[in-house]
Amino acid sequence: MSWHIKAGDFPRSRDFEDQMKFILSYAVLAPSSHNTQPWKFEVDKKNRYLHICLDWQNTLPYSDRLNREAYISLGCTLANLIVALEYFDCLYSIEYFPEDSVEDIAIRVKIGQRIKRNTKNNLSSLLPYITKRITNRFFPEKKPISKDILLDIKRNNDEKDIRTIFVTNNNEIKKTAQIMYQAIYHAFGDKMFKEELSKWVRSNYTRANDGIPLYDSGIPSPLTILAPLLIKLVPPKLQAMRDKKLVENSSSLLILTSENNNKTAWIKTGKVFEFLALAGTAHSLFFSPMAGIIEHEDSCINLKKTLHIKEYPLFFARIAYVNKIPPHSPRRLVE
Ligand SMILES: Cc1cc2nc3c(=O)[nH]c(=O)nc-3n(C[C@H](O)[C@H](O)[C@H](O)COP(=O)(O)O)c2cc1C
Repeated sequence: MSWHIKAGDFPRSRDFEDQMKFILSYAVLAPSSHNTQPWKFEVDKKNRYLHICLDWQNTLPYSDRLNREAYISLGCTLANLIVALEYFDCLYSIEYFPEDSVEDIAIRVKIGQRIKRNTKNNLSSLLPYITKRITNRFFPEKKPISKDILLDIKRNNDEKDIRTIFVTNNNEIKKTAQIMYQAIYHAFGDKMFKEELSKWVRSNYTRANDGIPLYDSGIPSPLTILAPLLIKLVPPKLQAMRDKKLVENSSSLLILTSENNNKTAWIKTGKVFEFLALAGTAHSLFFSPMAGIIEHEDSCINLKKTLHIKEYPLFFARIAYVNKIPPHSPRRLVE
């Protein structure tokens, strides 16, 4: 099913498990670091629970030592799940790291009954954008985003303790692009980082159901057959320059911050990011995450200082208008 899912196919007259499987087909379309899709779902029919756990087989032990990016990815999948639950009129409540569980559960969603809603709310209106949202690394069109659009996107942040920062000032964008250069230069100068990344890049002809095909990398498709090797050989300067230019030419930057730097804050950050990204997609914008500047400690400190951020920066993404759209990256099916 993957990206071709159609809301009209919701199995209305089938049982709880089938309906949850359908709803999870939206959840798995969420973005994740290196497209590792580090989530596992459990449907507990008896208690009407949906559990989301970290899939320890699909984390990034080197570049994401704290599993921050993995938990942010869980937050992204939770956001899609919420949008689908709202759209299909299911009541629900959410609990993070439930204490009564002996298992390794990150998110527990208690599913209530389906109710009749006469009007669709703001979250459910995001459903059509789940299959349209995409990370886009093609070169952007430098075009300002109107204040009204940014405000409309921002109102989708439903977490009091996660703050949305849009950086639209050109001078600040330029300074941030320079910090990104340092962060990426550092990452691509690190053999172990590239070794790990090389396991997750894919050729443009891949049949794998995870990882990152190089559609929007600027590398001609036939050459991407050598993707893992190319990644190991890419000079740090080249990659850093490319990413710096992508930042410089973005219309806005998005930074999500919090007073907390723990697992629950990371999940909430991912959830907020995906809500904002879906709302941005409705305005033909592309939200493309770049974790390097957060994960490289010196760069993150520099970012805080440069932009006068008081809290922990937990997430960074570029917001851009782009003419070219790459194909969707693959997904593991719910089954
Ligand atoms: C937490 C997180 C961190 C990410 N970090 C980066 C990054 O540093 N650089 C990048 O190019 N993409 C990054 N991405 C984007 C993923 O590579 C992308 O979501 C994944 O390949 C799936 O593609 P899609 O978003 O187009 O569905 C990140 C995504 C998430 C959720």
